Amino acid sequence: IARNFSSSSAVQSAIKHVTVIGGGLMGSGIAQVAAQAGQNVTLVDVSSDVLAKSQKSIGNNLGRVAKKMYKDNPKEGEKFVSEALGRIKTATDPVEAAKATDLVVEAIVENLQVKHKLFSQLDAAAPAHTIFASNTSSLSINEIASAVKRKDKFGGLHFFNPVPVMKLLEVIRGADTSDMTYQTMMQWGKEVGKTCITCKDTPGFVVNRLLVPYVAEAIRLYERGDASARDIDIAMKLGAGYPMGPLELADYVGLDTNKFILDGWHKKYPQEQLFKPIPLLNKLVSEGKLGIKSGEGIYKYDKK
Ligand code: NAI
Repeated sequence: IARNFSSSSAVQSAIKHVTVIGGGLMGSGIAQVAAQAGQNVTLVDVSSDVLAKSQKSIGNNLGRVAKKMYKDNPKEGEKFVSEALGRIKTATDPVEAAKATDLVVEAIVENLQVKHKLFSQLDAAAPAHTIFASNTSSLSINEIASAVKRKDKFGGLHFFNPVPVMKLLEVIRGADTSDMTYQTMMQWGKEVGKTCITCKDTPGFVVNRLLVPYVAEAIRLYERGDASARDIDIAMKLGAGYPMGPLELADYVGLDTNKFILDGWHKKYPQEQLFKPIPLLNKLVSEGKLGIKSGEGIYKYDKK
């Protein structure tokens, strides 16, 4: 009988040590879920200030998890937190960190050139068996992988914000990702507590390919004056059962991020109507109205 590669439970993940590069919003969450699952982690960032902040927020998050998990046994809870934290080392040199690791998950700035530079350096330093993965939201996995020789050991691991809470992991098979690499990524995703889906290397994979044009259409509808912002959000919450309205979501994600993704896709696929620029979105971003983080976007927020 041919080996059934679609059954991931048959394959033991060979990942014992993971290096997460980029200690920001996503990287710190990825480091946390891996450490929580018993893996040894090195979290790398160019900034040691970022690393200090990440460690603090991971500690706080783990504390909250422990409170729930060990309601009646705070001592066990404390042990859980200190053991998980103890599995996370921090470093500022990605190349040094990659010399002894089974998996690299990259979560640095969303810029192809910067990712290329990082991966080509890692490719020269990491052991032959090490798998490389990018957490990119909007870039092509194949294009990122073009910087390395180990194209068979390259794929996408796309997490969602906030990583410890969101249950989905999109596993992206690039054009050259081997079956073994794909299976290992699926198994690892399961081990860190996520439900994995398989995606091809297409813009936005599954979630953002549906979500980004949906949010864009909501901004266009509002721009045309067809309904008020409040009513559009109420409509999708009460009429479609979504937990957040599309315009609230746009402000939450950041209007600059929405624009960045749309612009990148529009440049690559100029014929696709769904990716066309939105004058209102461009105007708000140029005025510094970026959403919740800047105090105003589609909506106004009370400054803390
Ligand atoms: P962030 O800005 O919070 O963190 C990025 C971190 O990378 C920063 O701390 C920065 O100091 C560090 N960094 C930059 N260049 C570096 C380098 N060469 N070596 C080491 N560290 C470096 O960004 P965020 O939001 O965590 O996003 C990271 C990646 O994850 C991006 O590719 C983004 O597309 C993707 N992503 C973001 C999501 C989100 O909701 N923010 C969701 C899913 C994926």
